[in-house]
Amino acid sequence: MNTNSAGRPPVTLVVIGHPGRPSFTSDWADGSVQAAKAEGHDVLISDLRDFDAVERARSFGVDGGFDPLKAHETLPLPLDAVAEAEKIEAADRIILHFPMWWFAPPAVIKGWCDRALIHGRLHSVDRRFDSGHGRGKSVLFCVSTGATEDESGPHGKEGDARLLLWPLAYTFRYCGFSVLEPVLVHGVHGYHEGAAKDALQERLRTVIAAQRGRVAGWDNAPRMTFPADSAFDETGRLRAGEPASSPFIRPLQK
Ligand SMILES: Cc1cc2nc3c(=O)[nH]c(=O)nc-3n(C[C@H](O)[C@H](O)[C@H](O)COP(=O)(O)O)c2cc1C
Repeated sequence: MNTNSAGRPPVTLVVIGHPGRPSFTSDWADGSVQAAKAEGHDVLISDLRDFDAVERARSFGVDGGFDPLKAHETLPLPLDAVAEAEKIEAADRIILHFPMWWFAPPAVIKGWCDRALIHGRLHSVDRRFDSGHGRGKSVLFCVSTGATEDESGPHGKEGDARLLLWPLAYTFRYCGFSVLEPVLVHGVHGYHEGAAKDALQERLRTVIAAQRGRVAGWDNAPRMTFPADSAFDETGRLRAGEPASSPFIRPLQK
């Protein structure tokens, strides 16, 4: 892909949801930046180290009644949220880098979604899911866990990491994005010493080096599947006979 639908070089937005520099997360994000540039993309970066993750009425200059879904119609939008929304609007691809924290993405990733996916710009009542504003855009989550692969699997003690990412994936699906299967790297932590530490660092270097191939293979990478709009009845429930693509949306039991 050398040009996007506007005939311009495609744009990749790399988002870093980690407070530390350097960290494995930030080093991996650097790998994404290099990989996207190697593909001929223009690259935008959202370094969320200092991003205010909390939606506040006072950011809109009000102190009292505040409807976050209507704020964009009547109030001056906070500049930091607008800057992020503009990057999301400009991007053909988004790569989100973050660690798993308390069985979920860190709060700054949730807050970035809360504040930057501005109602009326990136989602609206008549443009969501199949017809979402993000149609034609795609997103990849690059996630590290402290837990091992076994602990992070469907039968693991720490819960199925892929499932823990479903609410974030569905956020982008709601906005019309296609969501690539996440890339998860397990057993990432600073507890190791000596040979075990060296082995972990070597493994992580391999993960970062492989980012070039992941980005090059983007268009053919597997996607998460979600029910189409037509899979739901007029009450918003999945129609009988529709397949379950996730335990979060289950078919009706007769
Ligand atoms: C506040 C906090 C919560 C964490 N919660 C989890 C968790 O729920 N599951 C897990 O596998 N690892 C958890 N970890 C470990 C991190 O995922 C791990 O340290 C991180 O992936 C390492 O990447 P980094 O070097 O870029 O920080 C947690 C770490 C912190 C600091």
